[in-house]
Amino acid sequence: MNISKIKEVDAPAFSKLAKRIILESPDYSDTTKKECIHCFSIKKIKSDLKDKTILLIAAKNKGKPVGFSRGHFEDGIATGIFWLQWLGIDAAYRRSGIADEMLSSLTKKLKTKKYGTHKIVCVIRPENNASMSLFKKNKYRKLTTLKKHWYGEDFTLWYKNL
Ligand SMILES: CC(C)(COP(=O)(O)OP(=O)(O)OC[C@H]1O[C@@H](n2cnc3c(N)ncnc32)[C@H](O)[C@@H]1OP(=O)(O)O)[C@@H](O)C(=O)NCCC(=O)NCCS
Repeated sequence: MNISKIKEVDAPAFSKLAKRIILESPDYSDTTKKECIHCFSIKKIKSDLKDKTILLIAAKNKGKPVGFSRGHFEDGIATGIFWLQWLGIDAAYRRSGIADEMLSSLTKKLKTKKYGTHKIVCVIRPENNASMSLFKKNKYRKLTTLKKHWYGEDFTLWYKNL
């Protein structure tokens, strides 16, 4: 499995994969999904690739993206806080350790001198047991539940100090 930052040439396949995974997810309302997929239009991906505070990473199997992640540094890299917004694996490739591998690779990258990140933060829907189990296994801690948060839905707030 090759895990790396995407390039402009990857934008169409990355967009297709991310949109499909988000739209198939049972844990979000239709409104949330509709809003979330805006971040994964080909146009938005191409513009995000010019923004150093946004990281778009793919896991590729024989050149084909099977996993995606998107995260950003709110208020700049110097804050040291990285918001992991999305991580998803193609349903046909789940339960084979790809998400684990993507999180390890992301952590390694964020700890380098280039980023110097000290904390990763993310939110997870309370119904999403697979995701909560994944983040627990990767030593993230649950801080609280944010009631009526994004798009009026409840989210649990997780973090990991690096
Ligand atoms: C959550 C998700 C990213 C996990 O990806 P994955 O590649 O299948 O996960 P891995 O194979 O690396 O599993 C790592 C750990 O995650 C947990 N996990 C993954 N899938 C699970 C499931 N269906 N049920 C329970 N735990 C699960 C386990 O702790 C697992 O460790 P183990 O295999 O030692 O038991 C994947 O199910 C997915 O893409 N879901 C839809 C999108 C989504 O909800 N993303 C998260 C919101 S940002």
